[in-house]
Amino acid sequence: MSARQRIIAGNWKMNGTHQEAQTLIEALKAELSSFQFSCDVVVCPPFTALETAGKLLKGSPIKLGAQDISQHKSGAYTGEISAAMLLTLGVSYVIIGHSERRQYHAEGEDLINSKVVAALASGLTPIVCVGETLTEREMNTTKPIIERQVVGAIGSLSAEQLSRIVVAYEPVWAIGTGKTATPDMAQEVHAFIRSILSGINKESGQKTPILYGGSVKADNAAGLLSQSDIDGALVGGASLNAKDFAAIIKAA
Ligand code: PGA
Repeated sequence: MSARQRIIAGNWKMNGTHQEAQTLIEALKAELSSFQFSCDVVVCPPFTALETAGKLLKGSPIKLGAQDISQHKSGAYTGEISAAMLLTLGVSYVIIGHSERRQYHAEGEDLINSKVVAALASGLTPIVCVGETLTEREMNTTKPIIERQVVGAIGSLSAEQLSRIVVAYEPVWAIGTGKTATPDMAQEVHAFIRSILSGINKESGQKTPILYGGSVKADNAAGLLSQSDIDGALVGGASLNAKDFAAIIKAA
């Protein structure tokens, strides 16, 4: 176990109306009501459920996250959501650069970097996602890809900014596929990410929490989370079931 902040975050993706969010959050609160957890627990519902979720989580140790953010403060950006809008709903974390945003919305390193900067400027904690595709892994390019993504997203940040970020390693081939990286495979990339962070800023290498994501379930969480450089999990599918998500939190 590391001395770093441990975080279990649930990424609900595009699932659930705000009514369904209410049911899920109430179920999760009930699952965790008699359990003392020392890690940060975060739920990231769709934008339309944030207000409901924020009200239900007031006074609870469970924190609220968003799944994306605009790099702009306000203005003519149809469909976008700003940091200020999120903050007023009680949001404290924001996922940035998820592989589904990279893949389906053509988000590249420069945009992701500007979103990270916008989140930090408003006091939100960015969870910056990186990860290689199956083809990239098979071509033996995992490390250069990860390095490009990490340096592109956060290489230009100051030491102070770096002290407020979280990184998530999510191999694209493991997301929603039921295929998880083995604890050893994940640990190898996490250690590599830590070495890149150290190269940018020594303290950041030691202190930045690095979460693993990609088919994390109750039965594989403990093995992944016991690795020295894995500080938590970003959970998709299993976070949509209160019992399953609570079991992962308990494993942490
Ligand atoms: P998954 O998704 O747990 O369903 O694989 C993880 C993620 O995309 O954050």
